[in-house]
Amino acid sequence: MRPFGPVWPGTAAGNHWTVVATVPSHASLDQVAKAAADCRACDLFENATQTVFGAGPASARVLLVGEQPGDVEDQRGAPFVGPAGRVLDRAMAEAGLSREHAYLTNAVKHFSFRPAGKRRIHETPKARHISACRPWLAAEVLAVSPELTVCMGAIAAKAVIGPDVRVLRDRGVLLERDSLIGPGTFLLTVHPSAILRAPSDRREEDYKAFVSDLRVAANALGR
Ligand code: URA
Repeated sequence: MRPFGPVWPGTAAGNHWTVVATVPSHASLDQVAKAAADCRACDLFENATQTVFGAGPASARVLLVGEQPGDVEDQRGAPFVGPAGRVLDRAMAEAGLSREHAYLTNAVKHFSFRPAGKRRIHETPKARHISACRPWLAAEVLAVSPELTVCMGAIAAKAVIGPDVRVLRDRGVLLERDSLIGPGTFLLTVHPSAILRAPSDRREEDYKAFVSDLRVAANALGR
């Protein structure tokens, strides 16, 4: 299928086209979400079920960014509603962060996977997917205007802050700085799925460190 949207002349390479996400300006979160549903700015829309836009109130004081929707999220059309979401729910509750009052989203809004029989195996999104999706993330941040943005995992951290960031080096502290989506206060931590993947003798310790990072976010919001 041929994508729609503005095509920049001279930038088509190989089998890939270059289309930029057409993000409505001065739009509400709902209007941006509707526009994102038709996004064709990278090739991931071809195999994914749907765009999985962020979820949560526009009044949220904290915005959490993950990597990309997983298999369950792709089918249900909502972020963090699968196994990683259950880890996140538990950790947020323990840290004193209310999911209901937070805005949750992903750096990439289509599920990137390779088929393996009946299964769909997660594939790390490529730099072009992250760049193509960044205008949507920036629009979400503009609409929500959070006091704090939490980046979970290296993909989210690099999508938001830039390539030089290191999650394990920079985690758990408030960073007041500029970013690829504008200036703000940021906190880096691991991705909840890293806890699911950790060896069983490390899992509890990794989970506690994740909760401890989220507690820094909760304290920063004064809860
Ligand atoms: N992993 C993510 O990064 N985001 C989701 O929404 C689900 C799993």
